[in-house]
Amino acid sequence: MRILGIETSCDETGIAVYDDEQGLLSHELYSQVKLHADYGGVVPELASRDHVRKIIPLIEKAMADANTTSSEIDGVAFTQGPGLVGALLVGSSVGRALAYAWDVPAVGVHHMEGHLLAPMLEESAPEFPFVALLVSGGHSMLVKVEGIGQYEVLGESIDDAAGEAFDKTAKLLGLDYPGGPLLAKLAEKGEPGHYKFPRPMTDRPGLDFSFSGLKTFAANTIRDADLSADNAEQTKANIAYAFQEAVVDTLIIKCKRALKQTGMKRLVIAGGVSANTMLREQMKNLMADLKGEVFYPSLAYCTDNGAMIAYAGMQRLKAGEIVGLSSQVKPRWPLDTLSAI
Ligand code: KG4
Ligand code: ZN
Repeated sequence: MRILGIETSCDETGIAVYDDEQGLLSHELYSQVKLHADYGGVVPELASRDHVRKIIPLIEKAMADANTTSSEIDGVAFTQGPGLVGALLVGSSVGRALAYAWDVPAVGVHHMEGHLLAPMLEESAPEFPFVALLVSGGHSMLVKVEGIGQYEVLGESIDDAAGEAFDKTAKLLGLDYPGGPLLAKLAEKGEPGHYKFPRPMTDRPGLDFSFSGLKTFAANTIRDADLSADNAEQTKANIAYAFQEAVVDTLIIKCKRALKQTGMKRLVIAGGVSANTMLREQMKNLMADLKGEVFYPSLAYCTDNGAMIAYAGMQRLKAGEIVGLSSQVKPRWPLDTLSAI
């Protein structure tokens, strides 16, 4: 069985062809980062228009790279939500139109289920059950996963997502959008011990997160630091280090709690922030201490991509979950409302 996957929920157009016997045959990604950089964040209308421009050439390229014709495609999966409504509409319209034209089923995929299942694309894929830490630009959540669609949200962010906190703090440090990866790079030059950021919501029980206070703490720290001095770059790097350390520490504390609460020994980390080197290293150490295992997607499938949508779509297609031409996009779509398959 072969499926075309389409991701357009935010500022990346991701296309992939996935075959359930041969694995991933191709994947294409176009990032709109440069388009939005001048505005310091994603401009939804510009995002939608750029998806319109890029989606068809990318589909043609992914099909050619996979050496696949439309007659070999058994279904078209697209991100149905959550995400920016205009951006979602592009992928959903093109996906359903292609499915109609090719006379194959269309499948609407939940973006966060895509992230959650992305590690399944790897050679050493996790077995169920596991605890998943999903950390992206729009969401931060801990999920107890018993199987595909069997999701219990154990905790989530009550304000900013982890990636959002990275991006906002990066902006305060004068870095371009999206600042997460740039802040992480700056932090590599940082020295530990100069600043101490709080570890929000770790002093009380529960698995929810709150990251907006860290951004405020960063703003105050930057205001009080002397950034006109000769060593301003080092000071910024030290602040970046302390911020990153606080986010990673907080995520570690919450993961440890979630594993204890569920009695599970397997941890999956996915979403854009799972590309963070410090987070990956420290989670590896944590799971070695706990004699458990940690799984993450390879870097290309941490941030938004078409491959994860094709993979999740394949699972839903096999379970007979198809959508008609009148289906709607779902800008808001709670993960725990998905059906078990
Ligand atoms: O999953 P994703 O591509 O999009 C959403 O679904 O939101 O995640 C994007 C987020 C951005 O906030 C970006 O700054 C963050 O992931 N990110 C990182 C790193 N790479 C991407 N944050 C910290 N360190 C990184 N290396
Ligand atoms: Zn995402």
